[in-house]
Amino acid sequence: MNYTKALNNKIFEIISKASLELKIESYVIGGFVRDLILERDFKKDIDIVAVGNGIELAIKVSELLPRKPKVQVFKNYGTAMLRFEEIDIEFVGARKESYHFESRNPVVENGTLEDDQNRRDFTINALALSLNVSNYGELSDPFDGLSDLKNKIIKTPLNPDITFSDDPLRMLRAIRFANQLDFEIDADSLNSITKNAERIKIISGERIVDELNKILLTDKPSIGFLLLFKTGLLDLILPELTALNQVEEIEGHTHKNNFYHTLEVVDNICPNTDDVWLRWSALLHDIGKAPTKRFNKKQGWTFHGHEFLGGKMAKKIFERLRMPLNHKMKFVQKMVMMSSRPIVLSQETVTDSAVRRLVFDAGEDVENLMTLCEADITTKNPNKFKKYHQNFEIVRKKIVEVEERDSIRNFQPPITGEEIMEIFNLKPSREIGILKEAIKEAILEGEIPNNYDAAYEFMLKKAFKLGLNINTC
Ligand code: CTP
Repeated sequence: MNYTKALNNKIFEIISKASLELKIESYVIGGFVRDLILERDFKKDIDIVAVGNGIELAIKVSELLPRKPKVQVFKNYGTAMLRFEEIDIEFVGARKESYHFESRNPVVENGTLEDDQNRRDFTINALALSLNVSNYGELSDPFDGLSDLKNKIIKTPLNPDITFSDDPLRMLRAIRFANQLDFEIDADSLNSITKNAERIKIISGERIVDELNKILLTDKPSIGFLLLFKTGLLDLILPELTALNQVEEIEGHTHKNNFYHTLEVVDNICPNTDDVWLRWSALLHDIGKAPTKRFNKKQGWTFHGHEFLGGKMAKKIFERLRMPLNHKMKFVQKMVMMSSRPIVLSQETVTDSAVRRLVFDAGEDVENLMTLCEADITTKNPNKFKKYHQNFEIVRKKIVEVEERDSIRNFQPPITGEEIMEIFNLKPSREIGILKEAIKEAILEGEIPNNYDAAYEFMLKKAFKLGLNINTC
């Protein structure tokens, strides 16, 4: 099979010319070739393998390009990268040993193309297209990856125990590709993942999270999470989630399995958001339920305070997996902590003041919170399902209404502490806090609108009760 036409980007011709000048062979390999054959959208990164020195090839390619882009060299890994028309092009010399995918002591032994293909993760990622003048565009496929692409199979080129031990992250990659591409993992490879799951412990949090994010960004992440669960990987990476996999019965009372419920919520949210952090919030929204679960005869099963504890646990997870400890973490934590609020609203008569309080507490994130909570409706009772969704519609409408009247989002007190001190000739004192809080409460309760005049009048009455006098000087 020849793919000359597919290699229509000018860069391939230039790499070909550079290889000819250096008298080495070069191939485009990996994801680019896989996605080309699958007719998937082209992602902006191309891997080139040189049967020779990859760094030299990169430098030569840069020299031949009109703007001579900068070559980034990673000496330890024997790789180099340059950017051409928004595309990252990575060059690597063919090796006998798989060292460049994060092993600690690189064994630098040059190899042939086939040696290099042997040490790649999956047959579908070992496909290579020649950039050599003699057979430009010819496919090299020693492990019949083409059939695996056709039959939708993820399979390692070598004995899976070897491939996964070269880089245990590949166990997650197998699951991620199966999820992203809608492929099956070959039985031997899957068994080997279960067998070697513990080895994931040597992989850095950053690399693990990269894969988890890719799983979360698929259309149906539950597929990936169930595979992670069945192979034992999830228990090692996110034990807080697998702890939710329980159903207990006491005196005829059961509670739902919150692990499967969580996966349903994650799938539910996908059509409504591509924001990976909101998807993380869905994944973690119930993690506080395992440690807070209690039974009592009056109420049956309870999970009091699970939102608060869940928020704290989310932060610990971010720390453990070396995820960003910035506003993204704060956002996920806030979503987890507030995750029951709209649900409670939607189960009751929806009052204006409850909606105002919701908008006050959620601020700019109120729409995201609503999206999360709607995804959280997984009841199989059609009447309840309908009722909750109808109530959510009411909540959404009311959010717009209270916003129009009171602009509660990013609430700023209509009268500041300084003004209060001036009006009543006060030094910093308790009374100021009391007045400010009373004004805020009156606005949230809907007693007064959120404007200066109404707040001023209300404050005077309240101050009078506190025995305060206006400053007349
Ligand atoms: N590779 C590997 N083992 C890894 C990572 C990568 O064998 N742990 C090889 C595979 O041949 C892969 C290529 O390096 O195709 C490029 O890796 P990467 O860019 O991470 O993945 P892609 O396959 O290009 O796909 P995606 O960008 O979707 O991750």
